[in-house]
Amino acid sequence: MERTLSIIKPDGVRKNVIGEVIRRFEAAGIHIAAMKMLRLTKAEAQGFYAVHKERPFFDSLTDFMSSGPIVVMVMEGEEVIKKNRELMGATNFKDAAPGTIRRDFATDIEQNVVHGSDAPETAAFEISYFFNALEICS
Ligand code: CMP
Repeated sequence: MERTLSIIKPDGVRKNVIGEVIRRFEAAGIHIAAMKMLRLTKAEAQGFYAVHKERPFFDSLTDFMSSGPIVVMVMEGEEVIKKNRELMGATNFKDAAPGTIRRDFATDIEQNVVHGSDAPETAAFEISYFFNALEICS
């Protein structure tokens, strides 16, 4: 059993696809173990995406991620990191496979509806950024 962090980004919330995104996760057999809606400050977005701080898109990305509410979830399941990334599709929606969340709902490489951890180590950091142990229901 593995855990990953999923975020429905501000554009996903604005597009009213929270329910549809979660429906796809559940239909794929993924269990939601924790969930909340919140709005990041710019500094909190910078802390979450610190790994990208040298990238040219860092300032714009953290402006976007603090532009409105997000939904953060801990998801559990076998190979859930990989499964979630398959459901999301490629970072750039133009490269994402048909039927993936980003292909269906994203309009921009930055405003790409969802985020998902890319490895067990990043999942551990990202989950602990938003949730403490008592908030996660296995
Ligand atoms: P995410 O999977 O959350 O990881 C980092 C985010 O940076 C990515 O989704 C996009 O929102 C954004 N991103 C990645 N590459 C680019 C890029 N070339 N230009 C702008 N934003 C990007």
